[in-house]
Amino acid sequence: MAVINIPDKNETISEFTKIMEYFNKRGVFCDKWDAGVSLQKDAGQDEILKAYDHALKPFMEKGGYKTADVVCVNSETQGIDVIKQKFVKEHTHSDDEVRFMVAGHGIFWFNLGGDEPVFSLFCDAGVIISVPANTKHWFDMGDKPYVKAIRIFTNEEGWAANYTESGIEKKYGSGAK
Ligand SMILES: [Fe+2]
Repeated sequence: MAVINIPDKNETISEFTKIMEYFNKRGVFCDKWDAGVSLQKDAGQDEILKAYDHALKPFMEKGGYKTADVVCVNSETQGIDVIKQKFVKEHTHSDDEVRFMVAGHGIFWFNLGGDEPVFSLFCDAGVIISVPANTKHWFDMGDKPYVKAIRIFTNEEGWAANYTESGIEKKYGSGAK
């Protein structure tokens, strides 16, 4: 499931073809993938990557991505509050931030600049999103953090966060403590 929310326009988009259209028009890749096999809840990294290999491999070849791994965090994860705060402040990366949600949920926020209003994408299992390099964004795990996601990189150094320190995320209700 996925929903776009544009708070400043009081608009939401929940039909997936329209969501894809909204992103594609703005140069952001967004799609849905199905698992090739059914996955157990406790499936490990190799099993998860294998289940999505049919989609992952062509995507990585086409985009020139070199590595993929699986990250899993939830409310029991040690240091979860620190992890949450790291993601929830507006930042950019020098590389694309590509995430496929295997399980769990989260909200990606986009601040594309120009005339584009800030908007968010709530997504849960099955959604892949690629935040383009140098795009201002943040990620809100919400009150009950649970994210199991495939991360896809050209190089892991490119994923270091450059914080804008704008504080804009608070205006949209993210990370307020
Ligand atoms: Fe990021």
